[in-house]
Amino acid sequence: MKNLKELILEAENKKVAIGHFNIAGLEQLKAIFEAGQELSQTQNTKIPLIIGTSEGEGDYVGFRQAAALVKSFREEFDYPIFINGDHIRSLEKAKEVVEAGYDAVIFDASESSFEENLKKTKEAVKFIKSINPKILVEGEIGFIGSSSKILKEIPKGAAMKPEDFTKPEEAKRFVKETKVDLFSAAIGSIHGMFKNIPEPNLDIKRIKEIREVCGAPFVLHGGSGVSNEDFLAAIDAGISIIHINTEIRLAWRKALEKSLKNNPEEIAPYKIMAEVITEMKKVVVKNLKIFNKYL
Ligand code: G3H
Ligand code: ZN
Repeated sequence: MKNLKELILEAENKKVAIGHFNIAGLEQLKAIFEAGQELSQTQNTKIPLIIGTSEGEGDYVGFRQAAALVKSFREEFDYPIFINGDHIRSLEKAKEVVEAGYDAVIFDASESSFEENLKKTKEAVKFIKSINPKILVEGEIGFIGSSSKILKEIPKGAAMKPEDFTKPEEAKRFVKETKVDLFSAAIGSIHGMFKNIPEPNLDIKRIKEIREVCGAPFVLHGGSGVSNEDFLAAIDAGISIIHINTEIRLAWRKALEKSLKNNPEEIAPYKIMAEVITEMKKVVVKNLKIFNKYL
C-alpha cells in the first residue's frame, strides 16, 4: 500500500483531493470508513481517507485508541485510511500524538503573529521529527476561527477579506524555513458553518498563486459550507486535502435527535446509532464524490 505522502502527491497529480474527516468516536469512524469503502467499490478503486482528531476529540476518544482503531481498519481491509492530529497547539500534545502512532500532525500556531508562528512551527517540526522522522507535519498561517460549530457571527480576528488572506511570499518563506511537509493558509474558508450569514467564497486565484510558490502540498481547512464549485476550482488550483468536520457534527446531532424521537422506548445504542451512522455517511459520500470528481 502507498504511504500517505505518496497518496497526497498522487492526488495532487490527478487533480483530486483527499477527504479529511474528524471523529469523536467509533460511530463517525464507521460512517467515514463505510462511506469510503462503498464509494470505492462502485468506482473500482480504493479512495484514500484521512481521519482527524483535534485535541478535544483526541482526549475524548484517546489518542492511542483512535490510532489503533484507524490502524485496525487499514490492516483488516487493506484500505488506505490514515490518522492526523488536527490543530495540535502544544509540544506536549504533539508528543502524545506522535507517540500514539499517528501518520500526520498539524502544529497550529496560526493565532500567533507570522514571525512567532514561524519560530514555534520550526521548533515543533524539529521536535516531532526527532520522535518520528516519518510522520508528516503540517503548518498553517492565518487565523480562520477555531471551532467546528454553528456560528452566529464571524469569529473574532478571522481572515475574511482578501487583504487578510495569506500572501504567496509569506507561504514560501514559512514552508522553506519551518520545513513542514504540508501547508495550510487563510484563503477564504472558515472553521464552522454560519447560521444566518452567507458562506464566504474561496479566493481561487490566491490558492493558485500560493501553491505555485509554497513548495508543499496545500491543505484546505474549514470545508463545511464551501460550495461544490469552489471545491472543484480549489482542487484545480492546487488543493490536495480538504477538511470537513462541522457538517458531520450537524448530521450526527440532527439524526440522533430524530432517532431518539422515533424510538422512544429503544435502549440498545447500536440500534439508536444505526440511522445516525447512515446520515453521517451521506455527508461523507457527498463530499468524497466532489473531492474525487465523481460528478
Ligand atoms: O480541521 C478541521 C476542519 O478544518 C474542519 O472545518 O468544521 O468548517 O468543516 P469545518
Ligand atoms: Zn481545520
